Amino acid sequence: MIFETHAHYDDDWFDDDRDGLLSGMEEAGIGRIVNIAADLASVKSSIELAERYPFIYAAAGVHPSDADQLNEENFQWLREQTKHPKVVAVGEIGLDYYWKKEPEERENQRYWFRRQLNLAREENLPVVIHSREAAKDTLDIVKEERLGEIGGVVHCFSYPVEIAREYLNMGMYLGIGGVLTYKNARTLKEVVAYTPMERIVLETDSPYLTPVPNRGKRNSSLNLPYVVSAIAEIKGITPEEVMDITWENGCKLYRLE
Ligand code: NI
Repeated sequence: MIFETHAHYDDDWFDDDRDGLLSGMEEAGIGRIVNIAADLASVKSSIELAERYPFIYAAAGVHPSDADQLNEENFQWLREQTKHPKVVAVGEIGLDYYWKKEPEERENQRYWFRRQLNLAREENLPVVIHSREAAKDTLDIVKEERLGEIGGVVHCFSYPVEIAREYLNMGMYLGIGGVLTYKNARTLKEVVAYTPMERIVLETDSPYLTPVPNRGKRNSSLNLPYVVSAIAEIKGITPEEVMDITWENGCKLYRLE
């Protein structure tokens, strides 16, 4: 079975066929899915999906690109959502300097990133970190906030080996997805070669980041076997071994039986 650690099935792109698609997942070998919230509305819709499907879990948090949605009042609401029995993480949270260029916007991202890290610590949940073109600031913050004590995953890992080493030293998992199958993925291939199998988890970021040979189409967890093959080739192990080890890793990451 495959453990899909990061997908967004509440996205509009799935409105026409969401239930049909999700109903077929277990039969297709996708045993567990964590649906990751990005903004406040998707915290709600992620929890609704987790309530409807036994094999779906939810992460509750606000993505850095939507950090301007947060205030003290709805942060309190967010805290209440993290207590839901099917919420297994706070996420996705972090810094995204690719989309936000203004100094005040970036400062606001850093503020709510710290607040959500502390929320995870207080509620005893791991975090799902999103970090894009913000390697140094993300590392500075997670070190100050003692991420090693909180735990979690850096999703869609996009930095070089030197940065991977820092997160692995903190006990973090690295989320690996469709980007690994792209021609220009040299840096990520080095990271996968360097990272112990015990720290790799599978993810799609559906509907985005579709692996080759389906690149350009909408992504879903059904494409994860392509990522499994790419990892198996780099590691010199069988696809079955990749699926088994990453299943264990997913369960440990999200603290599921
Ligand atoms: Ni995502």
